[in-house]
Amino acid sequence: MADLKTTYLGLNLKNPLVAGASPFAHHLDLVKQLEDNGVSAIVMYSLFEEEITHESLRLDYFLNKGTESQPEAQTYLVEPPEILSFADRYIAQLQRIKEAVEIPVIASLNGTSIGGWIKLAQQLQAAGADALELNIYSMVIDPQLTCDQVEKSYINLIEEVCKSINLPVAVKLSPYLTALPHFLARAYKAGAEGFVLFNRFMQPDFDIQSLDIIRKAPLSSSADLSLPARWIAIASAQLKADFALSGGVHTAEDMVRGVMAGANVTYVVSEFLQHGIGAAATMLQNFNDWMDRNGYDSVKQMRGVLRYDKVPNATVYERANYISSLKSFDEKVL
Ligand SMILES: Cc1cc2nc3c(=O)[nH]c(=O)nc-3n(C[C@H](O)[C@H](O)[C@H](O)COP(=O)(O)O)c2cc1C
Repeated sequence: MADLKTTYLGLNLKNPLVAGASPFAHHLDLVKQLEDNGVSAIVMYSLFEEEITHESLRLDYFLNKGTESQPEAQTYLVEPPEILSFADRYIAQLQRIKEAVEIPVIASLNGTSIGGWIKLAQQLQAAGADALELNIYSMVIDPQLTCDQVEKSYINLIEEVCKSINLPVAVKLSPYLTALPHFLARAYKAGAEGFVLFNRFMQPDFDIQSLDIIRKAPLSSSADLSLPARWIAIASAQLKADFALSGGVHTAEDMVRGVMAGANVTYVVSEFLQHGIGAAATMLQNFNDWMDRNGYDSVKQMRGVLRYDKVPNATVYERANYISSLKSFDEKVL
């Protein structure tokens, strides 16, 4: 039996299989099932900036509505529409999860402005979160905004949040940053201990009959693994940060790929949504068997063996590989 232990954000984990941010954490019974099936940590669904902003605007609206409509309303206190805010509910759920399971629980904030995040991060820390994941998910569509301005605002956010709490912070990024290694180094310097590569943008689809935009949250396949694995192989050779591979982990072999690339942990969401939480136990058993069969005693020993600085032909991780891949395809077809 191989030693599956790993570390991530200062947490000692029994194996590299982590349940990524997803709706599972809405349900205590599913969280328990994740733990029972062996996952070593769980990331909660995100608390979204839009939810908080929308909520405060709504509250503002209701309070002002009352005072404007009637003069006597100056002394009349309008009841807020809902006493429990999204943030309160999120914190309460975090506390319930912490009571229900022993594995570490990582809270997740999704937003790009500092706004109320500092206070929230502190509240999540007080509520028992073991770490915090900052999901920087934004579509930059303002043509006035430059890359530098966007990245500076992200770094500022990371710095302020990291300064305000004692929890380890991981940053979940999109694969579309122009100069990813430079950004990672800046974010690391700003206090981020780990990176989750990558976030997945939910791409809207077009209904060409009704001329409508359709919301979609498609699930991944193992084919999606190449992108995060490649970047982790590069980035983990450059930076002493921790890395979580997120996107396309469906089998034990996918976990092996992630760890060999240099990931401390591999996140899984789609596989559990498609095949149930029991898939975790199967993946872990197969992961262990694979290591035994291939002579790896520990995850520590296996981690990073395919890292950029360790493989003899590292140029395959670079653009050169693009040309040779296209050529080899040509040779097969023509
Ligand atoms: C239904 C669903 C809900 C998700 N919710 C969140 C979320 O709240 N916050 C977040 O950071 N990522 C969220 N994600 C993204 C996942 O955490 C993960 O990054 C992505 O699904 C890739 O992993 P996978 O290939 O295992 O699905 C969600 C994904 C799905 C499919």
